[in-house]
Amino acid sequence: ATGTEPHPNSGGVRARTRAAISAPHLRTDRWWLAPAVTAAGLFAFIVYSTWRAFANADYYAAPYVSPFYSPCLAENCKAMPSGPNADLFGGWWAISPAIIILVFPLGFRLTCYYYRKAYYRSFWASPPACAVAEPHAKYSGETRFPLILQNLHRYFFYFALLVACVLTYDTVLSFRDTHENWGHMGLGSLVFLANIVLIWAYTLSCHSCRHIVGGKLKHFSQHPVRYKAWQFVGKLNNRHMQLAWASLVSVALADFYVYLLASGVFDDPRFF
Ligand code: FES
Repeated sequence: ATGTEPHPNSGGVRARTRAAISAPHLRTDRWWLAPAVTAAGLFAFIVYSTWRAFANADYYAAPYVSPFYSPCLAENCKAMPSGPNADLFGGWWAISPAIIILVFPLGFRLTCYYYRKAYYRSFWASPPACAVAEPHAKYSGETRFPLILQNLHRYFFYFALLVACVLTYDTVLSFRDTHENWGHMGLGSLVFLANIVLIWAYTLSCHSCRHIVGGKLKHFSQHPVRYKAWQFVGKLNNRHMQLAWASLVSVALADFYVYLLASGVFDDPRFF
């Protein structure tokens, strides 16, 4: 090799180094179904979460605070007397306080290895499925701006841990009544509990987490605790796609539940 040959990926599927097959694909199955369903699901979540994030209303119904709005860091979330509040952003912050914190879970999911696969296939058709040619003439992968920013995922993981801790705190607070007395439970407490279990499972199933827990070790035999933790995270990691979807749905449902209570559609059924 002289070092001057084009990189095999530099010209997309029509590169000289690729097999000269003119048909976009030779598949006979319904390969388009999975990317189409994925696109519909992600699009529905984008529409719903955009509406709720900018609504700046109906995000607190004692003792529940919407996961889209917690922790509330702006002065303009006085509608939320309990929960982790801090007026870090003063009166100058005029838009919805959800925007301040949604950057972190959004960044975590946008750069997630599974979601990358999902939207590269379903929105960018790059490629739309295995063994189906992509329409783009060039392919530079994630080696240049802007996609090189996907490498930020490992840092978003640390923020995602913080977010999961905050939502855990909110779930604990949900076991109170509307006067903040402990030892009570409503349907919302169960909704929050299911959500936080899924959020933790998704967060810990992250590929970056798996690397942090078990990576860069030469001998597992000398690190039995990390080995056990790595095995546990590995089991979750096997289900990363399912957990990505389940936690996406559960966080939207938890928010929607708070919205229904806060907007007076119905009252939270209390068990005790
Ligand atoms: Fe999906 Fe990290 S790889 S959350």
